[in-house]
Amino acid sequence: MIGIIGAMEEEVAALIGEMKEISSKEKASMIFYTGKLMDQEVVIVRSGIGKVNAGICTQILVDEYQVESVINTGIAGSLDPDINIGDIVISSDAVQHDMDATGFGYEKGQIPRMDTKEFTADRELGKRMKVVNEEVNPDIQTFMGRIASGDQFIADGKIKNDIIEEFQAKCVEMEGGAIAQVAYLNHIPYVIIRAISDKADNSAEVDYPTFEKQAILHVTRLMKAYLKSL
Ligand code: ADE
Repeated sequence: MIGIIGAMEEEVAALIGEMKEISSKEKASMIFYTGKLMDQEVVIVRSGIGKVNAGICTQILVDEYQVESVINTGIAGSLDPDINIGDIVISSDAVQHDMDATGFGYEKGQIPRMDTKEFTADRELGKRMKVVNEEVNPDIQTFMGRIASGDQFIADGKIKNDIIEEFQAKCVEMEGGAIAQVAYLNHIPYVIIRAISDKADNSAEVDYPTFEKQAILHVTRLMKAYLKSL
């Protein structure tokens, strides 16, 4: 079974709307929908925002559903001038930019006593997602790179630049690094797919309703095409 953690209500609703043999179960205040999507066994859930929710959600997918892989979709702020609102970033790896044990001599982002600070995403899964996205969503750009996560919405140029300098990440969001860590600890492959919603600084506001509609369209198209390709 493939675990899909979606971010947006309408995105999860769009995927659930296409599922067959659907059933649901609640745990930790999250609703897990199981069934078939494009003939693949899937479990789809909305984790809620932030690293704690995302971590709990991923561990439940492992323990209760024995998922073979985890795919996380959602939105992110761009950290690269070439990556525009609406474009898609696929994870090569994920870091937690708000982990700071530098006072103990650790590098920024390094979780004490863990052997890595970058949790590598599944390369094959990522490559396949990129190919499929370029096929089904040719009107937007698809990037692959590092995703930086933290329990902060970044809307300040100085904080944004610090994250770029410290982590060389392509985008910033609030869940991927936790999902990546849980996947790493449980030895399962993962990939994060993010549609860019903003520039992670105080630049002009986006027309969020229009963006969200497009992002949901792109992400659901990608997910369905990916599952169909298996
Ligand atoms: N998700 C979307 N945009 C974001 C930002 N600027 N910071 C953190 N999470 C986000």
